[in-house]
Parts: sequence; structure tokens; C-alpha cells
Amino acid sequence: MLAAFARAQSADDPLAGLEVGEVPEPEPPEGWEVVEVRAAALNHHDLWSLRGVGLAADRLPMILGCDAAGVTADGREVVLHAVLEDAQGWSLFSERHPGTLAERVAVPSANLLPKPAELSWAEAACAPTAYLTAYRMLFTRGGLRPGQRVLVQGAAGGVSTAAILLAAGAGAEVTVTSRDPDRLERARELGAHVLLGSGERVPERVDLVVETVGEATWPHSMRSVVEHGRIVVAGSTSGPNPGADLQRLFYRQLDVLGSTMGSRDELEALLRFLVLTGRRPLVDSERPLAAATEAFARMAAGEELGKLVLVP
Ligand SMILES: NC(=O)c1ccc[n+]([C@@H]2O[C@H](COP(=O)([O-])OP(=O)(O)OC[C@H]3O[C@@H](n4cnc5c(N)ncnc54)[C@H](OP(=O)(O)O)[C@@H]3O)[C@@H](O)[C@H]2O)c1
Repeated sequence: MLAAFARAQSADDPLAGLEVGEVPEPEPPEGWEVVEVRAAALNHHDLWSLRGVGLAADRLPMILGCDAAGVTADGREVVLHAVLEDAQGWSLFSERHPGTLAERVAVPSANLLPKPAELSWAEAACAPTAYLTAYRMLFTRGGLRPGQRVLVQGAAGGVSTAAILLAAGAGAEVTVTSRDPDRLERARELGAHVLLGSGERVPERVDLVVETVGEATWPHSMRSVVEHGRIVVAGSTSGPNPGADLQRLFYRQLDVLGSTMGSRDELEALLRFLVLTGRRPLVDSERPLAAATEAFARMAAGEELGKLVLVP
């Protein structure tokens, strides 16, 4: 079958190790089944795997991809929960088990959820990583309530666009920062209410910050939150070691919370949320799986707005 896989890894030139070609069919162990992939979404995780982060070199070649929606052998339309649990702890598809950027993927039956008919294949494929991460950050870890103020740092990332869309759909007032005015305009279309240049002062302090940018935006996140406010962190695209600003942390009694992915129950709730509110994941573009290299190049250049989707 056709798949996009990591043949080699390079920190400086991740795309050099990417290959799109024929690989053996999946062989599902007991309790797993084969899903015929209808759409799979890319994540920065896939680029990190090609850089040698999170994917051990002795596991190469490895099919990339964490997210997908597809059809089981008995005809069920499903969305995959991307978090795999085993004796070694949890992992995502493409870390210890072959990923989703393929015509077919083996999945534990317990990780399959019914795909809502209301979502397209591409929209459903966006849910398991970026949207699930944003859902958990906002509602589980962040405890966001309707009418509260939330600040989303960065307007273009997969997680940040998901956070804008979900928070606005839940009745929160959404403030977004970006270095790029065009991206802010797109954030407005997703439902953002207050648009600011990166680092610009918020008109009113927010109850919750969704932080995935890291060093570049951390000082602004710390300044922008109300007393007893919350900053939920799920990424550090611009670097992982900002100054901690401890005096502000204890004096204003802030909560800083880490968050990663989400549970099967949260994914089920997210899919229901999308159906009930009519909100739909933002798809940057869809391409055939055979053109995976083009999609990776777009992501590596930071050109995408929303999710890049591959269709086998
Ligand atoms: N914990 C989890 O479960 C989980 C799940 C998914 C992703 N992640 C992580 O979350 C992070 C975000 O990933 P992503 O794919 O959503 O987005 P991304 O493409 O990595 O970028 C996110 C945002 O970062 C902003 N940004 C980047 N460099 C910046 C800089 N120097 N100054 C200011 N802003 C900057 C961009 O904003 P503008 O261009 O609009 O300014 C962009 O919108 C990554 O680190 C990823 O590994 C974690």
C-alpha cells in the first residue's frame, strides 16, 4: 500500500528523510483492526519525527501521522483516538506503532469512535490531535465557562485555530494575537472578538490563556491574565524556556497548567460539540496522499492556516 514514512531523520533538513512509496500492509494484533483511511491530517509532530524528536531512530522506517478518519472492514465509519496505551505507557500513532498517513492503518478497537455523518472526512480527520488538545486545554484543564475571556496566542497554528473556533463556539470572548494582520483577519472569521499584534496590551485582562507559542509570548501571557487566572500550556513552538516571572506568579496567584492531547471521552464530547454547534475544523487544504511531500513543505514553511489533510 501507499504511505508517507520517515526513512531517515535530520534536525536541519527534516524533509530529506521523508519518503512516499509502497510499504507492507498492516498486520493487526489481537484486539486491533484495520481501518481504510479516507482522510488523515498532518501535525507538527510529523515534522518533529523527521527531525529525530519523539521517534527513536531504531524504529525507522516509520509511517508518519497521528490523525485519521476511515472505514473498518465491516463498514463502520470511524474517527481514531490517537492515544495508544500499552505496558510501556502511552504513545501516539507513528511513535511506536505505524501512523495514519497510509492507505490503511491498524488500530486498537477501543480507539475507534463513530464518525458523525455531519462531518466530512477531512473535518473528522482534524479532530484527534489539534482539536482534542484545544478542547482539553479550554474546558478540562482551563475550566472555561461561557461569557469568560480567553486569550489565544498565535493565530495560525493547528491548536490555536482550534482553540479560537471552540472557545467562540462555547460563548467565550476570544482575544487573539498574531505577528501577521492577514492571519488576524482569518481569526476574526473563525469567531475571534479582539485582534492584537503579538505582544500588544489586552484591553481587559483575560480569565484564561491558551499558550502553545512559548518563549515569544510567555511574558505577554503572564501580563494578560486576571488575578487567580489560568494559563494552560500545550506547546512551545518558539522555545521552551521563557523567564518564569515568579513574582507575578505568586503575587497574582496564577495557575499555570500543562495539558497534552485528551481522553477518548473528551474526543467523543468534542465530536458532539462540533455537530451541535455547527462549528467545523478549519481545513487549510486537501491533497492526495501521493502529494504528501508538498503538504509537508507547506507546514515546514509555516504557510498553512488550519489543517493540512491528505486523502489516500
Ligand atoms: N501537548 C499536546 O498535546 C500538543 C498537541 C498538538 C500540538 N502541540 C504543540 O503545540 C505547539 C503548536 O503547534 P501548532 O501545530 O498548533 O502550531 P505552530 O505552527 O507550531 O504555531 C503556533 C503559533 O505560533 C506562533 N509563533 C510561532 N513562532 C512565533 C514567534 N517567534 N513569535 C510569536 N509567535 C510565534 C504563530 O503565530 P503567528 O504566526 O500568528 O504570529 C503560530 O500561530 C507545538 O509546539 C506543538 O508541538 C502539543
